Parts: sequence; structure tokens; C-alpha cells
Amino acid sequence: MKIIHTVEEMRAACRAARRPLGLVPTMGALHQGHLSLVRMARARCEAVSASIFVNPTQFGPNEDFAKYPRSFERDRQMLEDEGVDLLFAPSVAEMYPEGISITTVTVNGMSERLCGRSRPGHFQGVTTVVAKLFHVCVPDLAFFGQKDAAQVAIIRRMVRDLDFPLGIVPCPIVREPDGLAMSSRNSYLSPQQRKDSLALSRSLTEMNRRFEDGERSVQKLIAAGAKAFGEAARLDYLEIVDPDSLEAIDKFDRPVLAAVAAFVGNVRLIDNILLPAG
Ligand code: PAJ
Repeated sequence: MKIIHTVEEMRAACRAARRPLGLVPTMGALHQGHLSLVRMARARCEAVSASIFVNPTQFGPNEDFAKYPRSFERDRQMLEDEGVDLLFAPSVAEMYPEGISITTVTVNGMSERLCGRSRPGHFQGVTTVVAKLFHVCVPDLAFFGQKDAAQVAIIRRMVRDLDFPLGIVPCPIVREPDGLAMSSRNSYLSPQQRKDSLALSRSLTEMNRRFEDGERSVQKLIAAGAKAFGEAARLDYLEIVDPDSLEAIDKFDRPVLAAVAAFVGNVRLIDNILLPAG
């Protein structure tokens, strides 16, 4: 595996890579969720690139940029073991040589929904850095986790609107045995908070159960989810939306996304589930 720290070298290495070339963008602190993306990329592509970059522009002023877990040596080994060909690990100065870029990509409207509402500027930071990574690597396929369902929808829309010459491959959520969606932020949780964090998957499981039992009132499904969520954590949002536009829905004529975000102590976690059509 080649480790690359500069844009210029990464561009050259990707140009010379076998095709199709896959890209798996990450912020490091890797877990099985990230590795499932790499495996999907391995299966679909002749060459696989991954990036590790804790992107400052997608963190709010009071968020966890400074303390976000960083474990480069461990991550490097994991990616090497998975057969990644190119690892791009730029510094902040390398990605933003002029200081934080004043040119940004915003997917209007969608960027203010779900997490975008409680994290102003977050999705603009994501789309801008992902657009930069796409320009540096020019992959044929880029792999993203459905764990961040809004991120996938917003990036897909950016790719369509701006004619990026690549495909987006969404990959299923990887969970711990008890249902908690894997996340780099789970490492912040105390043993008690780790138990409390099950409120997220519990609320979604309950909504799914009611849905399978035939419940088709959005309001009632959300009320059931909120009840199952309980009191141990603080709900940020619990919504049922269209998985492409992220707009609220009122009928179930196509698959819909039930999405939850919550604070367990100070740790913000998200999760979601797709409810099928009909
Ligand atoms: P990060 O949180 O490191 O996640 C990198 C990728 O791994 C994302 O596509 C995310 O959806 C996926 N992922 C995380 N947990 C997962 C899980 N439990 N199951 C499946 N996939 C999972 O998302 C980001 O970084 C950043 O916003 C980034 C796209 C790299 C831009 O900075």
C-alpha cells in the first residue's frame, strides 16, 4: 500500500492506477463499518484508494474536531490488511493551503435537513471536501455508508448536479451485536452511556415493527419510536423522510427513511433504517 500525503502525488498515483478505481473517504479511527466499504470497493474495483482526513470544515465551533479520535498507525495497518492500494492522508494545510476555502459546494435545501438543521454548515463542509477528494482522485466509484444516509443523499445529488464522472455506491450499516451502529464516536461513551446508546436502534426497531404490523400513520410511527427511545438519552430528531430529497413524507408509496439523532451525554450519535414501500 502506497501512503501519500500530497495532492500532487495522489493525483499522479490515481492517474496511473488500474481501472475501475474505487475511493473510500474516511476520517480515520477505523472500525468494521469503514472496512465493509473497503471490502465492497475491493469486490467492485481493480484498484482501491482510501483517504484519512479529519476535515475541520465539517465540524461546528463547539464540536469535537480537536478531540476526534486519531489512530493513524492502527488505521494504516487495517487498510493495508484489507488490500488498499493507495492511502491518501493529507494534512489540513495540504487540503486547505489558502486557509479554509472560500469556494464551497452547497446542496441547497438538502444541506439544512436532518443533521444539517442542528449542525449548521456541516454538510457544506462535507460536500466541499468530498468534491475536492473527487477532483484529486477522480475515482470511477466512491463508497459511502448508509449509516450517514443524509450524507449519501446529498453527495449523490451533488454528483448529479455537478456532473462528477463517477458512481456513488451506498453500503449497508454495520452494527455491534446488540444493535448499536458502529461509529468512531462510540469510543467516547462511558459504560453507562454505551448502554443508553441503544435507545437509537431500539426506537428504529420499534418503528420498523409497527410498520411491518401495518401502521401507516407517520405521526403514530414517530410517537411509537419516541416512546421506545425512552428518557436515557436526549433526542435531537426522529423523522421519516424521503431518502433522496430528505423531505418529510406523508405516504408510503416508495421506500422511506426513518432517521434518528440523539445526544448520549455530550456524544451525538445517529442511526437510520429504510422502511420498504407499501
Ligand atoms: P467517517 O465518519 O469516518 O465515515 C467514513 C465512511 O464510513 C462514511 O461513508 C460512513 O457512512 C461510513 N460508515 C461509518 N460508520 C459506518 C457503519 N457503522 N456502517 C457502514 N458504514 C459506516 O463520513 C465521514 O467520515 C466524512 O463525512 C467524510 C465522508 C469522510 C468527509 O469528510
